Amino acid sequence: MNEKRMQRRSFLQHTVKIAALSLIGRRLFADGKQGENEIVEVSFDDKESSVLLENGKAMLFQYQKKKAPLIVWNQDGRIRAFSSSCTHRGCKLNVPSNGRIQCPCHKAEFNQNGVPVKGPAKEPLKEYRVERTESKLMIFLNQRPISEETGSQELQDISN
Ligand code: FES
Repeated sequence: MNEKRMQRRSFLQHTVKIAALSLIGRRLFADGKQGENEIVEVSFDDKESSVLLENGKAMLFQYQKKKAPLIVWNQDGRIRAFSSSCTHRGCKLNVPSNGRIQCPCHKAEFNQNGVPVKGPAKEPLKEYRVERTESKLMIFLNQRPISEETGSQELQDISN
């Protein structure tokens, strides 16, 4: 009789463990999917962000404490978003001025397309897709911008 009780107890313990693992697995999967579609919203209602409505203005937008801010830049009405992490050794870049983004560490410079025009950086900055409404921007951290030259609507996954 005791042996039967033990078997039943063991069976119930295993069932509870499997159910718990299943729930954890679902949670991890859901978080992963959310991460793939990470979107940062920048409201023009905020005083600081409202400068982006002016042509030529730019700002560093801090969207998470642990990650480097984004460089958000109004280039003749087209607002673009770049990583603020220098492609040389990862220093935080300055706010763009005079059409250039400068690195304070070793003086690399990037043009308005994020392409290095002065070393030591050799790789372009990561740029993100931006969608604009009247009141806000949505920056898609896992997608490259839609090419204006080709008019391509194809989006590329850049999560890696
Ligand atoms: S880290 Fe930017 S130039 Fe070296």
